[in-house]
Amino acid sequence: MSPKLCVFCALVAMGLHAETGRSAWLRYAGLNGASVRQYRDAVPAVVASLGGAAPVESARQEVLRGIRGMLGRTLRVESGAPTESAIVLGTLDAMRQAFPQAGLDGNLEPDAFWLKSVQVAGRRSMIVTAANDRGVLYGAFALLRKIALGESVTGLDEKQTPYAPVRWVNQWDNLDGSIERGYGGRSIFWEGLHAREDLTRVGEYGRLLASLGINACDISNVNANPRLLAPDFIPQVARIAAAFRPWGVRVALSVDLGGPRTIGGLDTFDPLDPRVVEWWKSKADELYAAIPDLAGFVLKADSEGRVGPSAYGRTHADAANVVARALKPHGGLFFYRGFVYNNRMDWRDLKNDRGRAAYDNFKDLDGKFDDNVIIQIKNGPIDFQVREPASPLFGALERTNQAIELQVTQEYMGQGRHTVFLAPMWKATLDFDMHATAAATPVKALVAGKVFHRPSGGFVGVTNVGLDESWLGNHLSQANLYAFGRLAWNPDLSAQRIEEEWARLTFGDDPEVLRTVNGIQLTSWRTYENYTGPLGLQTLTDITGNHYGVNVEASERNGWGQWHRADEQGAGMDRTVATGTGFLGQYRPAVTSMYESLGACPDDLLLFLHHVPYTHVLHSGKTVIQYIYDSHYEGADAVAATVRQWTPLQGAIDEQRYREVLAQLEYQAGQAVVWRDAVTNWFFRASGIADEKGRVGNYPGRFEAESMTLEGYAVRAVTPAEDASGGKAVACAATQCTASFRYAGAPGWYTLRVQYFDQNNGVSHFGLRVGSQLVDEWTAADRVPSARIDSSSSARRVIRGVALRPGDEIRIEGAPDGGEPAALDYLEIEPEEN
Ligand code: GCU
Repeated sequence: MSPKLCVFCALVAMGLHAETGRSAWLRYAGLNGASVRQYRDAVPAVVASLGGAAPVESARQEVLRGIRGMLGRTLRVESGAPTESAIVLGTLDAMRQAFPQAGLDGNLEPDAFWLKSVQVAGRRSMIVTAANDRGVLYGAFALLRKIALGESVTGLDEKQTPYAPVRWVNQWDNLDGSIERGYGGRSIFWEGLHAREDLTRVGEYGRLLASLGINACDISNVNANPRLLAPDFIPQVARIAAAFRPWGVRVALSVDLGGPRTIGGLDTFDPLDPRVVEWWKSKADELYAAIPDLAGFVLKADSEGRVGPSAYGRTHADAANVVARALKPHGGLFFYRGFVYNNRMDWRDLKNDRGRAAYDNFKDLDGKFDDNVIIQIKNGPIDFQVREPASPLFGALERTNQAIELQVTQEYMGQGRHTVFLAPMWKATLDFDMHATAAATPVKALVAGKVFHRPSGGFVGVTNVGLDESWLGNHLSQANLYAFGRLAWNPDLSAQRIEEEWARLTFGDDPEVLRTVNGIQLTSWRTYENYTGPLGLQTLTDITGNHYGVNVEASERNGWGQWHRADEQGAGMDRTVATGTGFLGQYRPAVTSMYESLGACPDDLLLFLHHVPYTHVLHSGKTVIQYIYDSHYEGADAVAATVRQWTPLQGAIDEQRYREVLAQLEYQAGQAVVWRDAVTNWFFRASGIADEKGRVGNYPGRFEAESMTLEGYAVRAVTPAEDASGGKAVACAATQCTASFRYAGAPGWYTLRVQYFDQNNGVSHFGLRVGSQLVDEWTAADRVPSARIDSSSSARRVIRGVALRPGDEIRIEGAPDGGEPAALDYLEIEPEEN
């Protein structure tokens, strides 16, 4: 037998087979001995479905698949009322006909389901029923999840009703196959301006979405290509809709308000022009003739260069209602994005504030929107930053439907290269009381329409999955998609509960694995915040560029309005009513007064809402500047610890996912140090106040490349300076260059860390020698969003277990490739831990 096959045998023997992550949380891995016995006794031998609707058929297949995987039993599949004990799937109407004596009384809301054990004519059955087909599918997934989580399925009588009717995802996919802010590969829908030939992944995605109760997916970027509505695209959209349909997921489309002019041949897109009104109507009719269950449209207007009603002096309500009325006869919804702001604001004017924009644009239009219009509002007033308060607009709309837009794709959250579990952040907003009435009015209740009795509303997640096997570019990031769906179904679930479910479904029930995964995930938001933008500074990233690497000043002196106003004296945006932009006046009085006063404002939002000197003392007792230093060191240390926590899991989870997560965490640990050093040095330079622990600016064991003996390498100043240690790097302009120095420390075993730059425009080759011996070599072939020497391309190679003696020459060799100059920042030498 070949060695390869033997490795396979060994893995199978350990119960581990290669996993790519594509099955996500729907792996249906075999359960262990005791649970298998318990469920084998409880689960009947037959699965039967009533009626032939596609989602019910999917439910039957799913139960078959799940039980086979988890219990190793192949159920007998039947159609119609079973004659023996069975798991029976069907709508309430069908079920009442088949089991008139089962006592299935009462009603269920759309998409709600009921799991019920019944005893009819001596036969025990497990009924999975719902008011509609989709609900039956949701019930089937819920039943399988119970088994996978080890919950009891005997004597079932459980009804679940979704918290809100709108549980949608948006994909920002372009028709050329790229995805705006997508980090998991190319589009599963589009390639080369066509729907993909092979839509297998669309069906698989539909299955993942259905398992969470998500009922619609916008398949096109909100920065919409109007061509999507052209006649030749409609059959393509219909094909995608058909791939989703068995999973109860309906397709929605992003539209461009300029469509009547760009593809409709009109000379105007004025929403109140009768020809424009007619165009939208006939376009909707044409679409619904091909896709009768189209969920609706999403529109981004008057924002970031998109055209909008302002071109004709019309209001957002004018525009929204015209399009919504075209959808109305077909039951379609129209999502009008609340993300409307001016990106050319004068930054010199301290009263200007992008944070005000959503409220200022929509508050006065409250009550003017038709009932099938939903204002889709981002969770915070800026743009998916690492921490923001809830958007004040949630508490201000009383006679308008609303939905909260949460971002699953981690645009400002490490782009799938950093592990950040977002449920705790989302929960903080969803549970936040906006004080919109005398009773508690958390954001979740407002968006679900429960407070002001709205006909529609709910939850929208910007997901951006792609063709990568892991869907999102990082196995641990899948938890965010899972959490979004679970919260959209039931926002009362805790972040911890959701994470624990996800970890068990994704990695099995080994207690050590679960302890580790839960620990990493549940602390990851705070950790990320600690090194990228604490105290409400927002993510201190390159906001005019890739939104990934660190660039403290990129937020300032431009019109984009993501200002933190950090300077020599202090930091933070004064958004108070008393002295600032007045943003805080957009909240109801109870919220305003909590945030307005420095004494009551939580530390985590301090610099989002107030401008204070660096010496301001926080509730925690620390000064602002010392907190900034400390949190960055804590954050970077916490990521380094995740690597140490993960490594003992080798052998306890499948090898592929073990290795890929380890590589991701190691990379993140390096990036966290880049962030730590850049931000702390920037604030040290700005404030002139030293770190009381002496860390900032002092890096024992670090040898700057620019101070080494260079052959071929030339020193380059890096901009911004804090993106490289000492503000400098060395870059190679020859075919091969070296940077070397003589080690003068104590003899012993060491870990070496080479900080180098891995751009996306070449694959340089590096080697490290001690004396003449080649100790390590590697290529710089990572996928990062930068073609220059900066914090985004900054990467690290960790070489463990190297013996060094005084006098040893350490030599780093770099061979450039393409536009990438094999650049180096520094080498760190640290005594090995025992
Ligand atoms: C962010 C993001 C854009 C996106 C926009 C939006 O600004 O960077 O890529 O288009 O949000 O939500 O419309």
